[in-house]
Amino acid sequence: MKIKRIVLVTGGCGFIGANFIRLLNHRYPQWRIINLDKLTYAGNLQNLAGIEEGENYRFIRGDICDSERIAEIFTEEKINTVVHFAAESHVDRSITGPADFITTNIIGTFTLLENARKSWVERNSADGNPLFLHVSTDEVYGSLGETGLFTETTAYDPRSPYSASKASSDHLVNAYYHTYGLPVMITNCSNNYGPYQFPEKLIPLVLHNGLHGRELPVYGDGKNIRDWLYVEDHCEAIAAVIENGKIGNCYNIGGNNEKKNIDVVEIICDTLDEKLGLLPSKAARRSLITYVTDRLGHDRRYAIDARKIAEQIGWQPRISFEKGIRMTIDWYLDHQQWVEGVVDGSYREYYQEMYGNRQKIGK
Ligand code: NAD
Ligand code: DAU
Repeated sequence: MKIKRIVLVTGGCGFIGANFIRLLNHRYPQWRIINLDKLTYAGNLQNLAGIEEGENYRFIRGDICDSERIAEIFTEEKINTVVHFAAESHVDRSITGPADFITTNIIGTFTLLENARKSWVERNSADGNPLFLHVSTDEVYGSLGETGLFTETTAYDPRSPYSASKASSDHLVNAYYHTYGLPVMITNCSNNYGPYQFPEKLIPLVLHNGLHGRELPVYGDGKNIRDWLYVEDHCEAIAAVIENGKIGNCYNIGGNNEKKNIDVVEIICDTLDEKLGLLPSKAARRSLITYVTDRLGHDRRYAIDARKIAEQIGWQPRISFEKGIRMTIDWYLDHQQWVEGVVDGSYREYYQEMYGNRQKIGK
């Protein structure tokens, strides 16, 4: 079978990366996927259970800041496509400990860009149509007032260490296009939700706590707005950009689905009550909602204008929030073992079980 793309997916054991590898594995059996992941606290090999290593898939545990290792991978695997997800992704962690965000999100992206440049531009060694796709966020645009939408030409105005590190990496990606002619694209997406999301983010956290009758922390007045997109729709959008995007372009991706945080939390409470019955105390789960101190520098509203990707590439979200949130709740209820493994930390042992000490390139 002819391999058309040899894709280095970074961060493929995280939430979106794992959903993306699942989509590629199913949709593009002729592509070879190399998943490079450091397995930080957010990386979980169980997210890819059932994806077999072989001609089409290989997992490598490694750090995107490790230039030597990445150079080996580019040469050995003849990488012609990079889909770069690996990042520190949680805003709250970036507020309490920004250093890892600077290292991974900025230096890590720089290290990948340098290796792609050396491999593809200097040595002219990429077969096919080389592409470096950086998966980024709408948070680079800052915070909106009550009206307006982020477009691809909105000025960058990042306001948390996380978003500043992602903005910085976007700028580096664009610089490599303009300076060296590296074939790049960037996608800037809104808030994702769905299977395999680490239960520190709003939706899986509320789901898990609601299930166990624990407090549901809502920051500030609960009226901050996010534009929610089901993760499969995001993955479809990335695949569409790989197939039909134009080099040097960025594409905003969003769900057309603005919701106040408190409304999201209440929908989850009501759906859990409906599916599981009330709490043992006979109270509804809304009674667990607890307003807590606001996130520092909390962005008020994000909302995406996704007309460019719709008009130029033909992508549109397919899953409504009403459907997606029910699918997500069902998935978490059906995968309690996965959630408990993450919460009690036992998912970290899975790597040893699966791979032991095998981690040399080529073995
Ligand atoms: P995640 O935190 O769930 O996963 C990140 C993955 O990257 C993990 O598997 C982790 O082990 C890996 N990783 C971290 N540091 C690494 C390093 N130095 N080297 C190699 N691997 C490393 O993140 P996510 O929510 O899946 O987000 C993926 C990407 O999408 C990020 O770049 C994020 O900025 C972007 N994004 C996320 C959302 C969202 O709503 N989650 C929305 C828009 C964009
Ligand atoms: O917009 C895209 C971004 O969405 C991605 O780039 C980030 O990687 C991703 O983590 C997400 O960032 P947010 O900060 O918007 O997501 P989070 O789930 O942390 O929070 C969603 C909203 O809910 C936000 O306004 C903060 C609020 N919140 C969050 C948590 C964890 C609460 O009110 N209580 C909570 O316990």
